[in-house]
Amino acid sequence: MKIPLRRAGGEGGRVPLARQIQSHLERLIRQGLLAPGVKLPASRELARDVGVNRTTVAAAYEELIAAGWARAHVGQGTFVAERVPASVEPAPAAVPRLDWSELLSRRAQVALADRHRRRSYSQPARTAPGTISFAGGMPDSALFPTDAFRRVLNRVIREEGRELLQYYPPTGYPPLRRYLAAYLLRFGVEAHPAEILIVNGSQQGFDLVARTLLDPGDLVAIEQPSYPRAMQVFRSFGAELLPVPMTASGLSLFHLERLLERQAPKFLYCQPSAHNPTGLTMSLAVRQRLLELAVRHRLPIVEDGFDGTLFYGERPPGPLKAMDPAGLVVYIGTFSKILFPGLRLGWLVAPPALIERLEMAKQLADIHTSPLLQAAVYHFCERRLLERHQARALREYGRRRSALLEALARLMPPGVTWTETEGGFSLLLTLPEGLETGALLPRAQARGVTFTPGEAFFSDGGGERSLRLSFSAVALPQIEEGMKRLAEAIRELGRHPAHPAREPEMAVPIV
Ligand SMILES: Cc1ncc(COP(=O)(O)O)c(C=O)c1O
Repeated sequence: MKIPLRRAGGEGGRVPLARQIQSHLERLIRQGLLAPGVKLPASRELARDVGVNRTTVAAAYEELIAAGWARAHVGQGTFVAERVPASVEPAPAAVPRLDWSELLSRRAQVALADRHRRRSYSQPARTAPGTISFAGGMPDSALFPTDAFRRVLNRVIREEGRELLQYYPPTGYPPLRRYLAAYLLRFGVEAHPAEILIVNGSQQGFDLVARTLLDPGDLVAIEQPSYPRAMQVFRSFGAELLPVPMTASGLSLFHLERLLERQAPKFLYCQPSAHNPTGLTMSLAVRQRLLELAVRHRLPIVEDGFDGTLFYGERPPGPLKAMDPAGLVVYIGTFSKILFPGLRLGWLVAPPALIERLEMAKQLADIHTSPLLQAAVYHFCERRLLERHQARALREYGRRRSALLEALARLMPPGVTWTETEGGFSLLLTLPEGLETGALLPRAQARGVTFTPGEAFFSDGGGERSLRLSFSAVALPQIEEGMKRLAEAIRELGRHPAHPAREPEMAVPIV
């Protein structure tokens, strides 16, 4: 650690060195640069770094301890106190600080404005204790096969650690790409391993596609409602989103056709199976006609197949990518829902001419995805552990989905409607005419239940009466209680529909 000291003879040199060290460390602690619980450098080390006697540092540490800024642990060293004394106002900076917000690129400004407008929060919800949260569209970590994954990871480090901890080609771990090529055949997608690019989750897939295909002012057709994080990426590259309404059997071809007669979007982004937020599946007939339309208009399709294997009841038709002789479809897949989102592991399937460009973009962005994690996931899949986990998780999610649909049917006041989710983790509920989700959220939270307001999923500012309920991470016994609380909040809102003055208290994550 560097501490600038004023020595005797120089300006300010009359302040003892121990005192100078003490006040320097005190400032770092006060400003949170040395966080509670962090170990301070050993006195010998600090004495050497700043060029003073060790007893001088020891004296500074003693003063810090006496004033409550630090504590000593015999035999372990000196640590920043867990609770530091009340802080004093910091002195105004001598030089005005640079205002970075003035320097933001146009892209960053769009992303920021979008974030404020959509009230999308990247941090997990700070839910009050006891709140039943239907807000996060994420898998239940209580179901994670962590021990099995740890064993595979240990083996991979032991056996392939040297290569996997080195720099790696951007395309990905070859055995995983070969595995994915075989895996995709199960759904009818014929992709050569060379047409598969490993990415850091679907999110990076959206980013690479946008980076490679979009110019500011380009148009992107998108289902309405749709996945907010994909919309944000396309917008941040300057694209204008053209919403296409949805029906119970997928996006409305009638509306898409009208749109294509007037405008030429760069591509269509859609989620044909396990659509987030509705949970609906695009029917086979709609898929076929969509592809015919796409071929006729030379419309590329970015297919988000993130949850295609998470279905309840009838198996969804194969991905659009499986019916794509013209090479119009870019398919994006992920391990986030079927395994662990924290791995940040997904894949892109695209025709050779495009995949090469996407690889270049990937290399510029982050060189490659962690080979260690790719190898661990490959071995996990090879040993059929993914299949075993998926079957178990799907049974549990199926039970939660049925419990939610059953509770909704029994408890919701008249006029409330919802989508009969067929796949994925969520459904979209719509309030009766005259009631708004923005007014419902604080009432629901006051009763101990929360959800994601629907506005975030609508690209044109609609969705005021809708909300998304995710059932995947809510334990079975809590689902009915959660719906009772929500139904009460809706009834109360029906009696007093005015928008309350206060904003919802809790941040709601959008996943
Ligand atoms: C529609 C959709 N696509 C993709 C994802 C997964 O994203 P990622 O692979 O970046 O975790 C999600 C996650 O919620 C999603 O809802």
